[in-house]
Amino acid sequence: MSVTARAALCRLEEIEEGGAREFGPEPGRFLSMFAVRRGDTVVVYEKCCPHLGVPLNWAPDRFLDARRRHILCGTHGALFRVEDGVCVRGPCVGAALTPVPHRVENGVVLVAQEG
Ligand code: FES
Repeated sequence: MSVTARAALCRLEEIEEGGAREFGPEPGRFLSMFAVRRGDTVVVYEKCCPHLGVPLNWAPDRFLDARRRHILCGTHGALFRVEDGVCVRGPCVGAALTPVPHRVENGVVLVAQEG
């Protein structure tokens, strides 16, 4: 995934292993998003449910189901695969979270910069 203009979100180790963390918005830098870490890899999505366009989480940094296997929408309980953001259960099956272009460079998570 190509990320040319970049904003640093955080260091990879600042996201709990197997957990999630939210970021922003930071005007002029990036929109509201969250990251889920699996070992040395991370996925980043906009913090918006494709069902109704509302924020996914119901509390700060709470984006995962109890078993931490799926991303969970706190409004109607839709479940999304971590790896590609596709909804596999709930009212928007087949819809997907919006991925945020990113990469990890020298242990720092970088995302495309707004504007
Ligand atoms: S708003 Fe997310 S499942 Fe309905």
